[in-house]
This record gives sequence, structure tokens and C-alpha cells, in this order.
Amino acid sequence: MLPQQITESIWSELHHACSDKLHAWRTPVLATVDASGYPCARTVVLRAVDAASQQLFIYTDRRSPKIQELLHCKHAEIVFWNATLNWQLRAKAEIEVLTQGNILEQAWENIKHSTASTDYLRNQHPGAVINHANDTSQTTQEHQLCILAARVLELDWLELSRNGNRRLRIKNNQAEWLVP
Ligand SMILES: Cc1cc2nc3c(=O)[nH]c(=O)nc-3n(C[C@H](O)[C@H](O)[C@H](O)COP(=O)(O)O)c2cc1C
Repeated sequence: MLPQQITESIWSELHHACSDKLHAWRTPVLATVDASGYPCARTVVLRAVDAASQQLFIYTDRRSPKIQELLHCKHAEIVFWNATLNWQLRAKAEIEVLTQGNILEQAWENIKHSTASTDYLRNQHPGAVINHANDTSQTTQEHQLCILAARVLELDWLELSRNGNRRLRIKNNQAEWLVP
């Protein structure tokens, strides 16, 4: 495959991952940087993709620690691994936290009747200390959903293969091969 075809395949796979619950790229690891400079990484669900604007969208609770980290430093990396394709993808990104607007309200319309909605209606903020593991029943009226809009600045694609590993960096619409 040529670099251009690989780039198109990457965005196509990302797109599929949003609708296919079994797609390995549905649950990447999002790494941020905290105020002390420490990396903070956690699994998230990839909810939407816009290849034209090179954006990836993730839902989270606006009170979660990652929001403070992102407000302090918008730089992030999102790492995907697909054992079927043998593809790793590392996306360097700048993340904007969306706490209002049409995209957010549309997202809430879509999840407010699902079981996932309870995650965004808890009284306590994510990471709060509680007495028992399931002591999270109290709910708030106002949802705490927010959207992380990650603008991709650079992609680092690595393919593992018996015929030889390949690595491609895609930045500013230019692709270059790297030593794997
Ligand atoms: C498979 C899986 C998917 C997850 N998806 C999300 C998600 O989409 N958004 C989210 O905020 N947390 C998600 N989590 C929980 C996060 O990994 C993390 O525990 C939580 O967001 C708190 O992170 P923070 O304290 O760094 O803010 C997911 C966890 C797992 C195991």
C-alpha cells in the first residue's frame, strides 16, 4: 500500500471503530499530562471521527480529573492497537473540551435514555472517595457530559508483519517512512 492508501485506510478504520463495538480501535488509550508533568493514561471509547477536519471525539464527565489536566495542557496522545490488522496507531493531538453547544446537546439526546446516562448523572465527581464500592446511587438533575474534541496533529502508524515491519509518520498531509 502507498502512503496515501494507508492514510485513507487509517481514517476508514477509525470511522468503523465508532460504530462497531467489537472493533479494536474503539477503545484507545488517551494520555494527558498533569500539572506536575506526569503522564496520565486511561482507556476511553472513540465516539466519532471527522476525517475532513482530522478530529476524534470522546465523551467524558466534565468533573473528571482529565478535564483539569487538559485545561492546563491541551496536548495529548491517543494510542490504538488492532491485533487483527497488527496495526498500532499513535495520534498526537490538541484537545478542546466542549461543555456546551449543538454537538454536546445532540450527544446527550442520543445517550440520555441509555444505561450509560447514569455515568453522567451522578452526584459525586469521578475519582471522589466513597464508603462502599457501589455507593454512587445519588443523582443530579443536570448531566455532566462533555466532549473531548481531539484535533490530530500527527499520526504514527506501525504495522507488524512477518514480511517486515513498516512505520509511517503522517503530518501536515505529508507522509514519511520511519525505521520501525
Ligand atoms: C473499556 C473502557 C472504556 C472507557 N471509556 C471511557 C470513556 O469513553 N470516557 C471516560 O471518561 N472514561 C472511560 N473509561 C474510564 C477511564 O478509563 C477512566 O477510568 C476514567 O475516565 C477516569 O479517568 P481520569 O481520572 O483520568 O479522569 C473507560 C474505561 C474502560 C475500561
